[in-house]
Amino acid sequence: MRVTVVDDEKFAIAAADALMARLPAGAPRLGVATGGTPMRLYAELGRRSRGGEIDLSDATLVALDEYVGLDVDDRHSYAAYVRVRIADPLGVPPANILVPQGSREDPEAAAAEFEAVVAGLGVDVQIAGIGSNGHLAFNEPGSPLDSMTRVVGLSEQTRRDNARFFGGRIEAVPRYAITQGLGTICRARSVLLLAAGPAKADALAAALSGPVAADVPASVLQRHPDVTVIADPAAWCKMAS
Ligand code: GLP
Repeated sequence: MRVTVVDDEKFAIAAADALMARLPAGAPRLGVATGGTPMRLYAELGRRSRGGEIDLSDATLVALDEYVGLDVDDRHSYAAYVRVRIADPLGVPPANILVPQGSREDPEAAAAEFEAVVAGLGVDVQIAGIGSNGHLAFNEPGSPLDSMTRVVGLSEQTRRDNARFFGGRIEAVPRYAITQGLGTICRARSVLLLAAGPAKADALAAALSGPVAADVPASVLQRHPDVTVIADPAAWCKMAS
């Protein structure tokens, strides 16, 4: 496991450098996380793309998860997040964006189909964040370490954390999501884990230095052969002690 601890102003640069170092040339398959933490990475990639330093327009973007019940055009959907914050700035065409279809009448079927698509494609580098409860994508505590893409219920903690994206209203945060499983995520050839802020300190320490166990879903990454961690000092502080 490679670890870089960097201050806020260098976080995006370190994350973008780490990503580009692991991403193969050609038409890479890039697994993308949503949430607040990777936004600055995506902004930095957009800046490099506009400046001609990188060209990811041939990439295929594979999302980790999606809320059940939100349409792709809903601005709170992860489909919209991937389109607006990642694909558009990088010039990735809509046909190269893969997000679980949370608005399908049968989300279980959508999950199974997504699993098959991701398995067939193969992700080169998976960008990941970590929830304050140790979740990975939407695999909440208790998720089997070998789980596949499926419909899951979201914990109170996660809905509370994500209410900030829904105008602060927890009741507006969907109760269910489709998420890649921990087993699905671990098939990616390389994982880039991003963690920032004091709210992630306990979860990060438990995930990286505690036992590998379903009650800390991100701990499954200890079993992955190629993980790069970019953390800020606040998220890393419990590791150092
Ligand atoms: C969200 C997403 C995860 C993300 C995590 C952390 O709920 N489903 O993929 O990594 O929680 O998000 P943030 O970076 O906003 O703290």
